[in-house]
Amino acid sequence: MRTQLLLGVTAFCLCVFVVADKQPDRQADKSFPEKDGVLQLKKGNFNRALRKYKQLLVHFSAPLSGEGRRISAAFEDAAAELQGSEVKLAVIDVAKEKDLAKELNVTGLATVRLYISGDKNNPVPCPVPQNSASILTWLKRRAGSAADLIADLSQLDASEDLTVVGFFKDLNHEYVQLFYAAAIDLPDVNFAVTQNNEVITKYGLQHDVVLLLKKSQLIQAYKMMPQTSKEMLIIFITVYQMDPVTEYTGQTATQILTSPVLNHALLFVNKSSAGFKEIHSAFNGTAEAFRLKILFVWVDVDEPRNGRLMEYFRVRSLEAPLIRLVNLTDHVTYHLPSDTLDVQTIKSFCQSYLDGKAKPKMQSEPIPEGWDKQPVKELVGMTLEKVAFNPNNTVFVLFYLPYSPESRALFPLWEDLAEALKEREDVVVARIDASANDINMSMQGAYPSLCLFPALYAERMVVYQGKRKVKDLVKFLDKEMAKAKKYRFKEDEDRRKYIEAAKAEEAKKANQSKDEL
Ligand SMILES: *[C@@H]1O[C@H](CO)[C@@H](O)[C@H](O)[C@H]1NC(C)=O
Ligand SMILES: *[C@@H]1O[C@H](CO)[C@@H](O)[C@H](O)[C@H]1NC(C)=O
Ligand SMILES: *[C@@H]1O[C@H](CO)[C@@H](O)[C@H](O)[C@H]1NC(C)=O
Ligand SMILES: *[C@@H]1O[C@H](CO)[C@@H](O)[C@H](O)[C@H]1NC(C)=O
Ligand SMILES: *[C@@H]1O[C@H](CO)[C@@H](O)[C@H](O)[C@H]1NC(C)=O
Ligand SMILES: *[C@@H]1O[C@H](CO)[C@@H](O)[C@H](O)[C@H]1NC(C)=O
Ligand SMILES: *[C@@H]1O[C@H](CO)[C@@H](O)[C@H](O)[C@H]1NC(C)=O
Repeated sequence: MRTQLLLGVTAFCLCVFVVADKQPDRQADKSFPEKDGVLQLKKGNFNRALRKYKQLLVHFSAPLSGEGRRISAAFEDAAAELQGSEVKLAVIDVAKEKDLAKELNVTGLATVRLYISGDKNNPVPCPVPQNSASILTWLKRRAGSAADLIADLSQLDASEDLTVVGFFKDLNHEYVQLFYAAAIDLPDVNFAVTQNNEVITKYGLQHDVVLLLKKSQLIQAYKMMPQTSKEMLIIFITVYQMDPVTEYTGQTATQILTSPVLNHALLFVNKSSAGFKEIHSAFNGTAEAFRLKILFVWVDVDEPRNGRLMEYFRVRSLEAPLIRLVNLTDHVTYHLPSDTLDVQTIKSFCQSYLDGKAKPKMQSEPIPEGWDKQPVKELVGMTLEKVAFNPNNTVFVLFYLPYSPESRALFPLWEDLAEALKEREDVVVARIDASANDINMSMQGAYPSLCLFPALYAERMVVYQGKRKVKDLVKFLDKEMAKAKKYRFKEDEDRRKYIEAAKAEEAKKANQSKDEL
């Protein structure tokens, strides 16, 4: 005879919630405006709502964010299901209710919390819900009656989704408590418990293991150990719930950003480019070995919606393909210092990062001693803007990658250019290592990049695209300097005219008001 217990998979039973509603009449209460069954709370009525509802599930909403809208939709659907139950849903617009959010220590964009019995200080954090089912499952699992979680394991066979099955010898063991605690925190995952020896034999396993199944195929097994914590179990499940490599999209962003794995390897690559398949395959081939330690994510630089993410990492589409590692604990990023992105290179980069040996990508390298004594000035992040944007000088900067042969091939040219221009006091020839310094300028073109910052204009930059010969570079520089002078003259002229016109206008107004007196 089978003895199987299954939790979460089966038809959702609302009976947990449909306990007698002991709340007094709550109809048409003007102090609690509702929209689609969700209370709209503010500083003025929050405390009263806390006192009135025994379980108050609050969405601290940033209404303009995609996630905020998704959670709002989930709340509306869940509110319909939860009518007449002990749980009341509410929303607080954190953009409008800044004081209240601060008082309640709300941080982060989307936060959902359950306030119980009016206790303001100890809300239970609710995992960011994907949809209303997440909310309902979470509440139900929290209510925690194991009895209504029993079902037949054979139902799992059809499921495409991940199912987590715990095989336990003793259902009173603390392993089972831990397993349940993980189930509460992962309401979007199916959980089941069984003591069925048949199944254990099928997979050739011992008791007290947690299995991850997809279509009854075993993906991974985790042996429970005395030192196993809820967090360890959650990491194991959420990591293997994802493929080894995930594309960053609107759908996967939440899963990626809420992953308990806090080291991310990011491959920025153009999906439409010729080399995509090979690089993606190398990335994918490396990922498995770093499961549980590093989350592998790739980003299509040809997708405009990824612009903000790329801006954050200061990656320009023309620099792709490139790989960054980011430590989400301290937000330090590391740049893979190579032109070749094969399995061996990626693997040793990831390993050196985990060993604490990788060199972080810094805002700026320290200013090198004697940086302005050589013909070619060696700039760093800290000095770049000061030197390049100095309106007294015309500055020609080579942005290079030290590991790239194409970049290094330009060093002699730059020395020659500096030599050719050494008598020109208003001209500076310089270079900067773009892999070691954050370049805070919007540039077009991949590295190496030759950029001119003409005098007179602060913050203007022209990218040189011509022949890589000293003669052509100097010609370009002279032309741009003359252009800058001409435009600057015209601009000054325009500004003078504008100021005169403004003055005249003011005087006229003054005369008018005099007349009125
Ligand atoms: C907010 O945080 C402060 C300091 O950590 C704490 O004293 C206060 O009780 C918290 N308030 C709430 C409502 O949790
Ligand atoms: C990625 O690697 C895994 C093995 O780790 C393999 O099963 C899978 O087919 C690969 N996927 C792609 C798209 O190459
Ligand atoms: C990506 O590659 C395709 C094909 O080479 C090209 O047309 C497109 O402009 C590239 N996109 C970016 C953002 O570089
Ligand atoms: C990530 O940052 C945290 C905090 O600085 C640090 O403790 C941890 O060792 C870092 N991880 C790696 C792999 O460098
Ligand atoms: C530019 O030259 C003027 C006049 O010599 C000087 O006053 C000013 O400080 C210089 N600006 C910079 C940024 O060096
Ligand atoms: C980068 O530029 C932006 C806007 O120009 C500025 O707000 C920011 O402070 C700069 N960051 C660094 C590190 O220089
Ligand atoms: C303002 O009024 C004075 C005399 O009242 C006149 O001379 C002057 O031209 C006026 N200016 C303008 C701008 O109308």
